[in-house]
Amino acid sequence: MLSRFEGRRVLVTGAGSGIAQGVALRLLAEGAQLVAADVNEAGLQSTVEATPADQRDRLHTLRLDVADPASVTATVAAAVEFLGGLDVLVNGAGIMRAGHTHELPLETWTQVITVNLTGTFLVTQAAIPHLIEHQRGVVVNFSSTSAFGSVPYMAAYAASKAGVNAFTHAIALEYVKKGLRAVNIVPGGIATGLTSGLDLPADADWSLIARLPGWIEGGALGKPEDVAGAVAMVASDDGRYMTGTELRVDGGALM
Ligand SMILES: NC(=O)c1ccc[n+]([C@@H]2O[C@H](COP(=O)([O-])OP(=O)(O)OC[C@H]3O[C@@H](n4cnc5c(N)ncnc54)[C@H](O)[C@@H]3O)[C@@H](O)[C@H]2O)c1
Repeated sequence: MLSRFEGRRVLVTGAGSGIAQGVALRLLAEGAQLVAADVNEAGLQSTVEATPADQRDRLHTLRLDVADPASVTATVAAAVEFLGGLDVLVNGAGIMRAGHTHELPLETWTQVITVNLTGTFLVTQAAIPHLIEHQRGVVVNFSSTSAFGSVPYMAAYAASKAGVNAFTHAIALEYVKKGLRAVNIVPGGIATGLTSGLDLPADADWSLIARLPGWIEGGALGKPEDVAGAVAMVASDDGRYMTGTELRVDGGALM
């Protein structure tokens, strides 16, 4: 195993499940000091249990609701205190809700935009002053193939992820002279709670959903660790020439 994160201080949101849990485990294995934050405390406990015993002293967990500005402020401050600063932020928290767009309740639209887009903004905003302190900060955000290739029944989700793309590009340029890099990871078809819980309408037309999943391994879903390896590369010095860009990890879904 590489050790690219020795001495690096990392905050991962959404780290109680799926892709971001995989990212947390990968960065810990590579030597990171890491705060895993999530609204789901049972999920955080599962992250602790999945962490090898000899790495647990470098892991700290915090309850965080990215949709709640007060929770974000308190959690980022607590994370910075535990870590003694911040070098890498991974905005992994996210939700997906599906439905016919003409029937989608405003509450559902607002919830998806609030968690995925506003949540990414709030955590990043609180973290930036710390990330730019040492001229080597990295923000990794989570977009989705749905923001690039059309996916039916997920208009709110796709719009939130397109917003994340633009947000990432904007901060990448705004803080480039402060040494901050910001990159979008674009997963597609990864086996997590998000994909297994996909609540498509009962009368969904599957011929419109042909892009999912990808093509690799006969169309099998990818694993969180497949995305974690890409995040580790981007967030480490191996990704030092990458900013304001996207990295697709989708089994070829968009090709
Ligand atoms: N799984 C895929 O195929 C796929 C594809 C494209 C993009 N993504 C994105 O990757 C990211 C991770 O998704 P996943 O598939 O691992 O899903 P997941 O459901 O397994 O994990 C998401 C985590 O986010 C947490 N979370 C939700 N709302 C939160 C809130 N308000 N505050 C804090 N934490 C919150 C959940 O508790 C959960 O632990 C998401 O942004 C998702 O949109 C996933």
